[in-house]
Amino acid sequence: MFLIASDHGGLPMKERIVDCLRQRGIEVRDLGTTNDDSVDYPDFGEKVARAVSRGEAEKGILVCGTGIGMSIVANKFPGVRAALIWDEFTAQMAKEHNNANIVVLGGRVQTSELACRMIGIWLDGVFEGGRHQQRLDKIARIEEDLLAGKL
Ligand code: RB5
Repeated sequence: MFLIASDHGGLPMKERIVDCLRQRGIEVRDLGTTNDDSVDYPDFGEKVARAVSRGEAEKGILVCGTGIGMSIVANKFPGVRAALIWDEFTAQMAKEHNNANIVVLGGRVQTSELACRMIGIWLDGVFEGGRHQQRLDKIARIEEDLLAGKL
């Protein structure tokens, strides 16, 4: 299952992304926000990142004004690899090298057309494994140490 959420700064882009995903035949669950009222991005980033962290959702997409706040929130959650992507190359690398399970976009700094294109590249990409898997394993080990109170 795919999850998506935004704050008010990412709302128009989120709506466009939902359309793009549905056009690709991908069902996506929208966890808000639903209107222009000012909201706090951690409340919405948390919903998606927690579900991905628990394995309740396969992938997630988060949008705020810049993508920065949502990235900070999402990467607090164990097992989440949230990638702030800003062009076709970073979208490709987010999959091939980082195996990102969440991508983050900035609704005030990118066009929605670019966002849809980047998400398509991320979804069509293939994780390369090998040395990149070793690096992800190191990140997982850091998470385990942190959770065990070792650092
Ligand atoms: C909201 O005004 C804005 O701060 C938020 O969307 C995001 O850009 C934070 O990183």
